[in-house]
Amino acid sequence: MLRFLTAGESHGPQLTVIVEGMPAGISLVAARDIDPDLRRRQGGHGRGKRQQIEQDAARIVSGVRGGKTLGSPITLVIANRDWDNWQGPMQVEPRGFKAKRVTRVRPGHADLAGVLKYGFDDARNVLERASARETAARVAAGAVARTLIGALGIDVHSCVIRIGDVDVPVPDGDVPWDAVERSPVRCADEAASARMVAAIDAARENGNTLGGTAYVIASHVPAGLGSYVHWDRKLDGLIAQAMCSIPSVKGVEIGAAALAARSPGSNVHDEPRWDAERGFHHLTNRQGGLAGGVTDGEPVWALVHFKPISTLLHPLRSVDIRTGAEINAHYERSDICVVPAGAVVAEAMLAWVLAAAAMEKFGGDNVGETRRALAAHRRAAGRLR
Ligand SMILES: Cc1cc2nc3c(=O)[nH]c(=O)nc-3n(C[C@H](O)[C@H](O)[C@H](O)COP(=O)(O)O)c2cc1C
Repeated sequence: MLRFLTAGESHGPQLTVIVEGMPAGISLVAARDIDPDLRRRQGGHGRGKRQQIEQDAARIVSGVRGGKTLGSPITLVIANRDWDNWQGPMQVEPRGFKAKRVTRVRPGHADLAGVLKYGFDDARNVLERASARETAARVAAGAVARTLIGALGIDVHSCVIRIGDVDVPVPDGDVPWDAVERSPVRCADEAASARMVAAIDAARENGNTLGGTAYVIASHVPAGLGSYVHWDRKLDGLIAQAMCSIPSVKGVEIGAAALAARSPGSNVHDEPRWDAERGFHHLTNRQGGLAGGVTDGEPVWALVHFKPISTLLHPLRSVDIRTGAEINAHYERSDICVVPAGAVVAEAMLAWVLAAAAMEKFGGDNVGETRRALAAHRRAAGRLR
């Protein structure tokens, strides 16, 4: 079973990730396979000053020898440079500790729900872990997963199709990924990119924040990942859960879900065909490469909706948890728009879910075994007709 755990507070000394269940024999080099994704997560117009402090890089401290995975747990460490500025209020030891309490909880953040859950009198205890700094650790885990699915021929990409009220159509066909990577907002359309940047700048001027929508897609996914036999093995459900677990994600569409909801069935369903060159395939891919919670051999794609982030320079009214009095919400250095960065996190989560499903289906203690099981499965699927 492939699984990962992350640990670390936003302003603590470091983030730690343990990835377990990777087969042996996969080439894994942090500077080549993980750090570029960490940098992509840090980018995007609309990020705050924190990203200028951090220069995220992963250090592999277990599970890899001579650049190859061993099959043992892989531990990754990402240092928080900002720790230098927070050693006092974030110190671990009790002696001399002086908390700078956060009591004016932010509407839309985890502050109030978290203090109610754990019985805290300081929302910093909540926000340090609820903070999306944790997504750097997930991107590192996703980058490890990418090396596994990459060895099976699967690749994962993302772009942004909406920021605030600026949008572009849902991609239909090939996306120029180079243009996406060059765009400051991960949008291939240059004119729309410029409008998105202007919208973010206007939000910044107004002390406001913006949400939006990311498109995430995995290509060359074999048919047969996931299962229809139990609710918690359905891959569409697992993808939705993974996406919704990203901080500030409030909705996920698998394929053209919203369009399907307002269209007659005859305009929605993907007709299958068979030919000697492609084998079984579909004429369209509105169901996002999934039926019954099982991959159907088409690219797996989803739309991921991010709310505007909650820390506002011009804060909403809130409540002070010490007194119950109405007061302006707490402000601390924050992003304006996280959709481009969030898209990179969504890629990592999709890579992860597919890697876990591939290991469940194909297994293998070393990647050669995994590859051979996939090849046998593809041959068997080709013989079905
Ligand atoms: C990459 C990324 C960066 C984020 N940065 C911030 C931020 O700077 N300030 C903020 O208030 N929320 C930020 N968020 C969102 C909060 O972490 C999130 O809204 C909060 O944890 C509450 O969770 P929920 O929105 O999922 O309910 C960010 C989210 C992502 C994906």
